[in-house]
Amino acid sequence: MCGIVGFIGKEKRATEVLLHGLEKLEYRGYDSAGIALINEDELKITKVKGRISALKQAAEGVSPASVGIGHTRWATHGEPSKENAHPHQSASGRFAIVHNGVIENYQQLKEEYLADVRFASETDTEVIVQLMEKMYETVQDTEEAFRKSVRLLKGSFAIGMLDRERPETMYVAKNKSPLLIGVGKGFNVIASDAMATLKETDQYVEIHDMEMVLVTTDEVTIKKFDGTTVQRLPYTAKIDASDIEKGTYPHYMLKEIDEQPIVLRKIIQEYQGEKGGFAIDASIRKAMKNADRIYIVAAGTSFHAGLAGKVLLEKLANIPVEVHVASEFSYNMPLLSEKPLFIFISQSGETADSRAVLVKVKELGYPALTITNVPGSTLSREADYTLHLHAGPEIAVASTKAYTAQIAVLAILAADTANEKGRKLPFDIMQELAIAANAMDVLTDHKEEMEKLAKNYLHSARNAFFIGRGSDYYVSLEGALKLKEISYIQAEGFAGGELKHGTIALIEKGTPVIALVTQEHVNYSIRSNVQEVVARGANAMVISMKGLEQTADSFVIPKVQQLLTPLISVIPLQLLAYYAALYRGNDVDKPRNLAKSVTVE
Ligand code: F6R
Repeated sequence: MCGIVGFIGKEKRATEVLLHGLEKLEYRGYDSAGIALINEDELKITKVKGRISALKQAAEGVSPASVGIGHTRWATHGEPSKENAHPHQSASGRFAIVHNGVIENYQQLKEEYLADVRFASETDTEVIVQLMEKMYETVQDTEEAFRKSVRLLKGSFAIGMLDRERPETMYVAKNKSPLLIGVGKGFNVIASDAMATLKETDQYVEIHDMEMVLVTTDEVTIKKFDGTTVQRLPYTAKIDASDIEKGTYPHYMLKEIDEQPIVLRKIIQEYQGEKGGFAIDASIRKAMKNADRIYIVAAGTSFHAGLAGKVLLEKLANIPVEVHVASEFSYNMPLLSEKPLFIFISQSGETADSRAVLVKVKELGYPALTITNVPGSTLSREADYTLHLHAGPEIAVASTKAYTAQIAVLAILAADTANEKGRKLPFDIMQELAIAANAMDVLTDHKEEMEKLAKNYLHSARNAFFIGRGSDYYVSLEGALKLKEISYIQAEGFAGGELKHGTIALIEKGTPVIALVTQEHVNYSIRSNVQEVVARGANAMVISMKGLEQTADSFVIPKVQQLLTPLISVIPLQLLAYYAALYRGNDVDKPRNLAKSVTVE
């Protein structure tokens, strides 16, 4: 949630670097945006309600500057508006701040320290910059005032701050929210995500929680909040800049749907071990073998991947698995087994709900494995073990390739654990995944059919239902989430047998019901459920798997190993959602009210 970027250098390139960086960070929120630049001792703020394109227009003609900070916002405290957009300025105008996170004690700080200050916004962020000014009045030293201020904050924050009177330094602090310092020649940058400034540098320094940083043109000085200096070397960010461009695609989502077979093949290659084994760290193998129960914790699409993974882990590795929504788990913890292993599934590795659980799990002393697309992310750093998704940057807010990558990695983990336990696998997982990758190729070549189906079934739909049994039920949940988040059609996924226990009351003439039929053992029952809704007027679209198809089915997907069907049955659903959103004229890559990386609880 929210993206921040900053630049300090010899050349007057701040505006260009900030606007480019903010465009790359727009996936983190796009309610409002702004930049602050220092030029000739003047602190100039430009901000807008709306997207970076509007900010670009507003910033046309601003004087070039060699230092600046920028922000793209996903509103938490205060509605999306120009007043609530960052950067926020202190009462005297001397300090400007951008912030990602939530200050939990902002009300208390306001009452205790800032009762006489007139606030210009409704944000928690403004409290930080006003507090900074108060502290400065007492200590008359910017670094000390900054330290004193950030030490008072409770909650999550990644902060970039400018002092008009000290334009040679950018002040930075971090707790819980992601933040990196990019190191260049003759300049340095700060960013919520390396993607924002990859054009400038591939050298990044990680900042840990409760650290502040003084960034100048040539130096990066990291200090703990108690003032002690920390030495940390930069690492090379291994992201290919071309991965984060759309190329000839009209939308990132379509590009990412198409990338799924490539990602799956990459996963096969990365996890292929010697002599038919798997390239999985021995410590992970041991943790899996030692566990008497797996607790998968995740949110949204990653939670749905966890449900598909449960089937694979239980069937192949014979370990009981519970899958939990992260935001519920922290305060509604189930009774745990004696030797639990926690698996956190997260594309971004930054989801605050999941992280809150991880912190608790570590306090309790249990082992944790993170499966993520971003190896240096918070969830990856703080867990004991990490498995990488190798999906490449996922930019579209609606997750597609990360979902299938998560299921594939869970399948390999399940097969590896089965091997370790001496269980004979009923099939060669890598071979079956390769077959699934080929099936994905076939499906991504059938866009026109999905486009037609989206037009016929969803063009004027008010609501839609997705049904399935077994793994198909889990994919139905994901199909419904995809549809609602980008097309804004109210959609729900149901276990086929469950509809008649209440929800069938909503079926009326023309209601779209999308049924998945890929599981042989429930073929008969799910088809009965389709008949039940058709009898009540539903417009049923059946997506079946080769071998189980009937002539009236709307679309037939290639045959793959029955346990791996979620990898491919989801693709038509992703495409349906994509075309339904397109027909409705929605912004496919940046749906309303959402953000890619949800770093607030
Ligand atoms: C939906 C979607 C979200 C995320 C969820 C968790 O398309 O992308 O539901 O799956 O916010 O995010 P990660 O996987 O980054 O933890």
